[in-house]
Amino acid sequence: MIQKKLNSILLGIFKKHGLNTAHAKICCKALINAELVGAPSHGLARLMMYCKRIQKKLINPKPKIKVKKISHSISFVHANNSIGFVAANIGIKQVIKNAKKTGIGLVGIKNSGHYGLSGYYAEQAVKKGLMVFCFTNAPPALAPHGSKKSLFGTNPICFGVPTGKIPFVLDMSTSMINRGKIRRASKFGEKIPYGVAMNKAGKITTNAKEALLGTQLPIAGFKGSGLAWMVDILSGVLTGSSHGGKTKDPFDDFSGPQNIGHLFIAINPKIFVGKNFLKEIKKNIRLVKKLPKAKGFSSILYPGERKNKTYKKNLNRDIPIPSKILKEMEKLNAV
Ligand SMILES: NC(=O)c1ccc[n+]([C@@H]2O[C@H](COP(=O)([O-])OP(=O)(O)OC[C@H]3O[C@@H](n4cnc5c(N)ncnc54)[C@H](O)[C@@H]3O)[C@@H](O)[C@H]2O)c1
Repeated sequence: MIQKKLNSILLGIFKKHGLNTAHAKICCKALINAELVGAPSHGLARLMMYCKRIQKKLINPKPKIKVKKISHSISFVHANNSIGFVAANIGIKQVIKNAKKTGIGLVGIKNSGHYGLSGYYAEQAVKKGLMVFCFTNAPPALAPHGSKKSLFGTNPICFGVPTGKIPFVLDMSTSMINRGKIRRASKFGEKIPYGVAMNKAGKITTNAKEALLGTQLPIAGFKGSGLAWMVDILSGVLTGSSHGGKTKDPFDDFSGPQNIGHLFIAINPKIFVGKNFLKEIKKNIRLVKKLPKAKGFSSILYPGERKNKTYKKNLNRDIPIPSKILKEMEKLNAV
């Protein structure tokens, strides 16, 4: 579908669901960006879920979001159960402002919801010349090391840094694959890769539906479990949001709002080395890239490079939409 048309349909859907134009535009941009960067698991495939949660009054379409100043560097956003995109948009703008003022910004966000791709927010800070960390917690998907029950989310860790060229953005779930990919595979009856999830009985499965009922595997065993735990503490415990497995699954649990927490940290990369930073980061990347290549590799990519390429390739193209999602969009437009 032509992007302009898609944007106008999405805008209409969000406005019909009670969002004001500014908030609806933020949601459209985030969903379309996910499609453009090649992450459809976090794009239109989630539209129905967001709208269902608004219809059930679990996402507040007209939130009164408060930004509390704690110091020149630190702010605390009370998102009032807004859709995650809107809360995160306010949060990232605030952390950029704080870091520009003082050299370092810290923003905690509570009472939010699923905000999509961390890298989308990280890029905004990087484009303003800042180094950034973005954290969010998510509903139970991973069993903590030593347990057979899911408790941690796929809790992504995201780190961005300006390079003078394409932003370096390491944006990764702490699970072997992100849950959105499993959701999408389940929706379209596809298999998932071997070794990323277990079924309820604790056996590795490639069946997406079984995986959703079982547990996903963390990256690198107990280390990944530890990182997911760290993100739960930073996003959940620190901000006064849900944590310890209490974050509700946006697709399956309609018993209340998600109360997700996010934490953004932005740093002026010139604070210690001044203008030298850009020179040194370029040198750093050059040194890595010119290493002899392993078998099967013609180049060494840094995190974010491939997504950036995909984005540029797709920027002026139509967005393919599976018929199942088109039908959902028609239904939502008719509400
Ligand atoms: N909001 C949420 O609750 C939530 C939860 C989990 C994940 N997510 C999002 O899902 C998205 C996807 O996560 P993922 O774990 O599937 O990421 P991924 O596995 O696709 O990529 C992880 C990282 O590895 C880098 N990378 C990939 N191939 C590379 C290569 N060949 N060389 C060098 N670097 C490479 C990517 O740039 C990326 O930074 C992320 O944007 C994440 O924020 C969101």
